[in-house]
Amino acid sequence: AATARYEAESSPAVCSGTIDSDWTGYSGSGFCNGANSTSGYAQFTVTSGAAGTATLAIRFANGTTTARPASVVVNGTAVSTVSFEGTSTWTGWTTKTLTVPVVAGSNTVRLTPTAAAGLPNVDYLDA
Ligand code: GCU
Repeated sequence: AATARYEAESSPAVCSGTIDSDWTGYSGSGFCNGANSTSGYAQFTVTSGAAGTATLAIRFANGTTTARPASVVVNGTAVSTVSFEGTSTWTGWTTKTLTVPVVAGSNTVRLTPTAAAGLPNVDYLDA
């Protein structure tokens, strides 16, 4: 199926933090700046035509030199982890790709940070 883009700043996506637009290079109208804590998540609702696996491409910027790891929670179950490496600048947008299990129809994909610094800035998810 064609790839769809899910912007982090657009409902039904949820950003537990603020929607910012102060760092250029983002897609859409802004990006999710999650709270700097393990409770600052970003959540997407991804539609899949069939049950199986989906390849997710998550665009982010982490303007530090320290990775900001996260748990990938699909439909309430932690299925994977992702290390959002430092990209050195907050305009250094980079894409991370991972494969996750999905059901047919609507799936919630939540990025839950596992370190106190929280998530990187998250621009979108392609699936
Ligand atoms: C800076 C930056 C934010 C970023 C934050 C962070 O404040 O301007 O865009 O989200 O650092 O450390 O998460």
